[in-house]
Amino acid sequence: MNKPLVDPFQRRITYLRLSVIDRCDLRCTYCMPERQQFLPKSEVLTLEELHALALGFIARGVRKIRLTGGEPLVRRDMLQLVQALGRQVGTGLDELTMTTNGTQLANCADDLRAAGVERINVSLDTLDRQTFARLARRDMLPQVLEGLAAAKAAGLKVKLNTVALKGVNEPEMADLIAWAHGQGFEITLIEVMPLGEVEEDRVDHYLPLTQVRGALEQRWTLEEDAHRSGGPARYVRVAETGGRLGFITPLTNNFCDGCNRVRVTATGQLFACLGGREQVDLRAALRSDSPEEALQAALDEAMRIKPARHHFAIDRRGAEPALARHMSMTGG
Ligand code: GTP
Ligand code: 5AD
Ligand code: SF4
Repeated sequence: MNKPLVDPFQRRITYLRLSVIDRCDLRCTYCMPERQQFLPKSEVLTLEELHALALGFIARGVRKIRLTGGEPLVRRDMLQLVQALGRQVGTGLDELTMTTNGTQLANCADDLRAAGVERINVSLDTLDRQTFARLARRDMLPQVLEGLAAAKAAGLKVKLNTVALKGVNEPEMADLIAWAHGQGFEITLIEVMPLGEVEEDRVDHYLPLTQVRGALEQRWTLEEDAHRSGGPARYVRVAETGGRLGFITPLTNNFCDGCNRVRVTATGQLFACLGGREQVDLRAALRSDSPEEALQAALDEAMRIKPARHHFAIDRRGAEPALARHMSMTGG
């Protein structure tokens, strides 16, 4: 292996989040505006470029790749990429995985499993059809539930991602967790982050997870669980359901000390931190005369500029988002 990727804070980067498309078939109100401007296709990396990029990271010790979007499954040649990268699992990679909204899963869960994907994260903020239609601005809860059933039947391990929102899904939180655990799914609650302009003010819906956890503790026994995915989530086990529950708390409890990741947009821009502007143009490297060397030099540069932590805050009505780019650019 070439030189490992280590940042100025001695954090080893072994996890790549690779966005394959900025488009999405939903429009979750906390994530993007209804009239989101999407990138022209010509800007987006080709399948070959995505593959070369992933191999460049694997050569530097990246062991886990998560494909993200936008919504990764709306990219037409997505399965081809999964199949190509799936061949690295067990040799270069420990894990190839994906974060999806689940709307297209019913069609491809079997193919993903066959290509070597073992676990997926699926976003699900509510089990109520009307709430879903209002929040995602598309009436697609039935498709997502069908997708989840297909994933389970295909033998994929599923973790649900739920953004906790005051005045939206707060009253449902315990029911959603109980349902997930009943299905054999893990579930992680997430604090909303101030990324990109949306129509509503995120202050109105921001729900600190300290508050949600307090409410859950009135009903259940939450036992600390040592499991860490190397990611931001901290886990507990719910004694009564036997299932695992995660908390991602960028606002109330910073987790950046253990950061192991970088993210790359569908246009090949590497962002060293979800909450920062530090970026390196990997597409320029890939399209240069000596792509392999240029890519490796760009990764070295990324390690030099990785910041210690993000500084998200949601505390003032009318405040600008911390960053102009939406979560759909970097896939989280
Ligand atoms: P695993 O730990 O690999 O299972 O996944 P994950 O929970 O890190 O990834 P997922 O794509 O499911 O993302 C869940 C939430 O975590 C999303 O809202 C992401 O934006 C958020 N997230 C992922 N990585 C980071 C990070 O480095 N910093 C912050 N602040 N949020 C992150
Ligand atoms: N804050 C927190 N989570 C967000 N997601 C999208 N936008 C935001 C935001 N502004 C979540 C999605 C998905 C994951 C990739 O990121 O719901 O679960
Ligand atoms: Fe790492 Fe930045 Fe995420 Fe913090 S916000 S965990 S520093 S990538």
